Amino acid sequence: MLKWCILRLYQVLALALCVSATDDFDWTKNERTSFYYGTFPTGFSWGAGSSAYQTEGAWNIDGKGMSIWDEFAHKKGKIHSNDTGDSSCEGYYKFKDDISLMKDMKMNHYRFSISWPRILPSGLKSEHINEKGIKYYNDLINMLLENKITPIVTLYHWDLPQVLQEKYGGWQNVSMVNYFNDFANLCFERFGNRVKYWITFNNPWSVAVEGYETGAHAPGLKLKGTGAYKAAHHIIKAHAKVWHTYDMQWRSKQKGLVGISLTADWGEPVDITNQRDIEAAERYIQFYLGWFATPLFNGDYPQVMKDYIGRKSGQQGLGASRLPVFSPQEKSYMKGTCDFLGLGHFTTRYITLKNYPSGIGDSYFADRDLAELVDPEWPDPGSEWLYSVPWGFRRLLNFVKTQYGNPMIYVTENGVSEKMLCTDLCDNWRMKYFKDYINEMLKAIKDGVNVKGYTAWSLLDNFEWDEGYSERFGLYYVDFRNKNKPRYPKASVQFYKRLISSNGFPNQREVESWKRKAVETCSSSNQLLAADPLIGHMEMVTEIVVPTVCTLCILLSAVFLMFLLRRRL
Ligand SMILES: *[C@@H]1O[C@H](CO)[C@@H](O)[C@H](O)[C@H]1NC(C)=O
Ligand SMILES: *[C@@H]1O[C@H](CO)[C@@H](O)[C@H](O)[C@H]1NC(C)=O
Repeated sequence: MLKWCILRLYQVLALALCVSATDDFDWTKNERTSFYYGTFPTGFSWGAGSSAYQTEGAWNIDGKGMSIWDEFAHKKGKIHSNDTGDSSCEGYYKFKDDISLMKDMKMNHYRFSISWPRILPSGLKSEHINEKGIKYYNDLINMLLENKITPIVTLYHWDLPQVLQEKYGGWQNVSMVNYFNDFANLCFERFGNRVKYWITFNNPWSVAVEGYETGAHAPGLKLKGTGAYKAAHHIIKAHAKVWHTYDMQWRSKQKGLVGISLTADWGEPVDITNQRDIEAAERYIQFYLGWFATPLFNGDYPQVMKDYIGRKSGQQGLGASRLPVFSPQEKSYMKGTCDFLGLGHFTTRYITLKNYPSGIGDSYFADRDLAELVDPEWPDPGSEWLYSVPWGFRRLLNFVKTQYGNPMIYVTENGVSEKMLCTDLCDNWRMKYFKDYINEMLKAIKDGVNVKGYTAWSLLDNFEWDEGYSERFGLYYVDFRNKNKPRYPKASVQFYKRLISSNGFPNQREVESWKRKAVETCSSSNQLLAADPLIGHMEMVTEIVVPTVCTLCILLSAVFLMFLLRRRL
């Protein structure tokens, strides 16, 4: 009888836990409300982002070592049009110009990344510190601060030193944890008196899945079903270690924050009343965002990942799960190691259950047992995968709030691309994307989500990884044909600038006037850009024709002189 009572008690408790867990995020209610006019909390931070390999260029300058992206992009057939980031936007030389662009837009922050091999060419702190690399980032940080722009600095935006990949297998090897910690510690030491916002990793999902599972990104490995889980495991450990290093050695002096930037699409159940669709959608999010966020906020992988990968590994006849396991010590070491969550978000999918029988096709994707669908009505302005679905952003933000205890959030990436051949600077679809996504973020803040800042992706058109220069995310258009890589404002620059100065959307009349004014100015920018090949041509005249003519003149005078001398003789 007592036994039965205790059992009942457990059941009731379990039920209560279950109820509160499902109570957390209401999958069955997707309110899509009309545009919300209003402003953001005072002190809300507006900015734009970039990353080292995508913008700096100068890939072999001033003692920089090779990264896995230098190596990968130099291989033919990996990148669209065999493009490389060798010169990209020449950001290494033009950062002062870029800071004036930001200043003109009255941005509060700028998010950029430090290239690990620019500072540690061999990857190892014990071997060689490249002071010229340090100086570049010092100059950049100082200039930002002089212009009252807060630097938000990413330590790892995908450019692992090539040596560490070649010699040790990169993120497949747990020794990256210590090497990365040494690099991060050096950055805290040299820059931490001025940098107060640190992001350890940018979008580790992509590093793990595209770097080590599909091979679409550097280092291009295809270790299906295991590579991504292993890489992610080491990345999570590395993040935790770096957070503890900061916490123990630097926090009391420098008073900054250390977070991570996770990118996730939203997954909406195809049928909001179907429990199996809801579960599939939740798996989609847990395998995406939860994979990294749950260990760092709650101390272990999401239960659903452990269940699914464990079961499938068993069916394959493996003795252990392909998902690595954290020890109890590691769990408590990891838990609570995010001072804030950086969130990157671009698009949404509809999700439904789809069973993948275990067997030859074992992979991260098959492990999830789901199918992704899109609504053909969704606008698809640029990149193939990027459908504009603003309401998904509010859903994702609310999900984060419920799952991880309402953490402080900085949106670290949000934006939309356009196709290569589009040289129209009047980017109406981007203005609409920003307007609607930022509005859904505002609604999420009204819902109680703790969003502190927003980072438009990206400041400039840049090297878009395996897509090369064929997809442009920039607020500013960069003319990559021209050696000087001139920047031209798209209409969205004017739009975003007005949004920043109003700290939101004051009223309908005003917001509509922004769009009108933005389109007026972009037509003149269009004319400038159209004249650009001409300017490029003129540069060719000065750089090639003038020296050639001069050389010819000198030669001719020499011949003439000789001729004169001969006649004298
Ligand atoms: C890339 O380089 C490879 C090898 O040189 C070549 O076969 C291929 O056509 C190139 N692709 C483009 C788009 O230029
Ligand atoms: C992992 O890295 C260490 C160096 O830190 C190296 O000695 C070891 O051989 C590497 N393991 C593999 C499998 O490459």
